[in-house]
Amino acid sequence: EKDPLVLFMPSGRRGRFEKGTNILEAARQLGVYVESVCGGRGICGRCQIEIQEGSFAKHGITSANEHVSAFGAKEKRYAEKRELKDGRRLSCSATIEGDLVVDVPQDVQVNAQIVRKAADTRLIERNPAIQMCYVEVDEPDMHKPLGDLDRLKLALERDWGFSDIIVDQHLLPRVQKILREGEWAVTAAIHQDMETARPALIALYPGLKNEAYGIACDIGSTTIAMHLSSLLSGLTIASAGVSNPQIRFGEDLMSRVSYVMMHPDGQEAMTNAVHNALNGLIEEVCAESGVDPTDILDAVFVGNPIMHHLFLGIDPTELGGAPFALAVSGAVHSWASDLNLALNHGTRVYMLPCIAGHVGADAAAATLCEGPHRQDEIMLLVDVGTNAEIVLGNRERVVAASSPTGPAFEGAEISCGQRAASGAIERVRIDPQTLEPRMRVIGVDAWSDEPGFAAQAEKTGVTGVCGSGIIEVIAEMFLAGIISEDGVIDGSLADRSGRIIKDGRTFSYVLWDGDTRLTITQNDVRAIQLAKAALYAGIKLLMDKQDIAHVDRIGLAGAFGSFIDPKYAMVLGLVPDCDLDKVKSVGNAAGTGARMALLNRGYRREIEETVTAIEKIETALEPKFQEHFVNAMALPNKVDAFPELAR
Ligand code: FES
Repeated sequence: EKDPLVLFMPSGRRGRFEKGTNILEAARQLGVYVESVCGGRGICGRCQIEIQEGSFAKHGITSANEHVSAFGAKEKRYAEKRELKDGRRLSCSATIEGDLVVDVPQDVQVNAQIVRKAADTRLIERNPAIQMCYVEVDEPDMHKPLGDLDRLKLALERDWGFSDIIVDQHLLPRVQKILREGEWAVTAAIHQDMETARPALIALYPGLKNEAYGIACDIGSTTIAMHLSSLLSGLTIASAGVSNPQIRFGEDLMSRVSYVMMHPDGQEAMTNAVHNALNGLIEEVCAESGVDPTDILDAVFVGNPIMHHLFLGIDPTELGGAPFALAVSGAVHSWASDLNLALNHGTRVYMLPCIAGHVGADAAAATLCEGPHRQDEIMLLVDVGTNAEIVLGNRERVVAASSPTGPAFEGAEISCGQRAASGAIERVRIDPQTLEPRMRVIGVDAWSDEPGFAAQAEKTGVTGVCGSGIIEVIAEMFLAGIISEDGVIDGSLADRSGRIIKDGRTFSYVLWDGDTRLTITQNDVRAIQLAKAALYAGIKLLMDKQDIAHVDRIGLAGAFGSFIDPKYAMVLGLVPDCDLDKVKSVGNAAGTGARMALLNRGYRREIEETVTAIEKIETALEPKFQEHFVNAMALPNKVDAFPELAR
């Protein structure tokens, strides 16, 4: 008779085990991650699993609760003291007695105060770099003069198999007190990012410490976003965001680099500004969730190369010009205390690798999240900011480049452009007959031709047009025949509509005529043409490298990607032709990638390897860039067809 077959869900891993093997052990052997803080003593409750009942014909398994041992003493004790939901078992006590399908739930949350936030529910398989290990340490003995710390290390080796542990210096003065406070029972936080690296004891708590947290953070040049996750359950329990305070030193990236070049203490000032903002966010997520900041033991950061350097206290001057040398491109391991973050003394920091001088750790994180390197389909990933970061490929080959789009897409360089804030026009429709516009304004919950608009707009004002609004208004002007394929505003329409007005030697379109008058000028159209041509030329170069004429999927990342309507992006020819259903905003891809790296160190290795393999293309050095650029000045393009738009 064969040994029972055990199938773990959702990973699908399976194997045969002798009757009587405990389920936690079986999971371990198959590499299925099941948390355990108490090391199988039946006190932490972290190892909960669920037995699925029924026949699973596909696998030839009939799984039933009777195929598991009955509640043992440990489990009874736990279930009496703490709640064990119906159907849940402690995998450290339950043993295999027949074929089983075991569900490893993602929501084992034993601290009832921590409420799940609905924000991001994407489940991430866990294998964190931090492990919480409860141990009972031998009491001191005059006949065996071994130090308290040394006996703690022995216990960690005996119960958890950690040998050769490094101990953080900051713990040494406190070890004796913590051991006595816990009456020789303590929980050690062990950090081990790479399996080949020596494990490090980074924090120590008296008794059973059944929680540990981590933060994942995307440092954008405009906004900084932070997520607080439980490392033991994988749940995101609080999120917060703030404007990047470096904006006062320069709106866009290049002006921040110039600031550093012109002010001797400029880098330090900007580094301090971002550290202070991060500490503010830490306070905020902790206040929201009731988590103590010293229980945050791991932190992952992503950002574009300049944000990356400034966060690490590195002068970004070299990134300001060719050859755009990064101080460090590989992943960075550091300490939160060295970066002035108000967390635990031992908290570790991991920063994802940068892809190239203009394609940063944020693009790496977005790549990790969207996974072009895991798919057969060719995926284009675009993050549009002052510089567009572009990644293109599939499991066979991935190429990346950046393109100098300038800040037009963010509303800069546009006469009526402004940040996406209250009062900004964000959606536009133009009637092709009358050439009259309808619009939506941020902070007003009605279209401009609906009742209620006027009263609300009175309060917010109509103050400018934000990035997504600019794309829409120019695309709509094109669709209504106000601008030609070459991007020229047709002055002959002035006879038909008062919206078209003469403006020096060219014409403008009056979008809003209220207290303020907002017009789209010929120069505005040019600025968008230049920006979109640069973006498209970069994409085309990568398509040339891949030798493809068509992409299967497009992901628009970043803040811009979350607001832009894919249809309008294609009408203007920002991105190549693609099935519109396969063009998606992946707004928070970088943040999700950061969370993946936080919760699973396997993802860190995955992105490190992927980034090493990505071929980097320097657009400035490519002879065909200029040709693609010129063709892409037309709307949507002089040579490339957009059949999907015709549908
Ligand atoms: Fe702690 Fe099972 S491992 S209760």
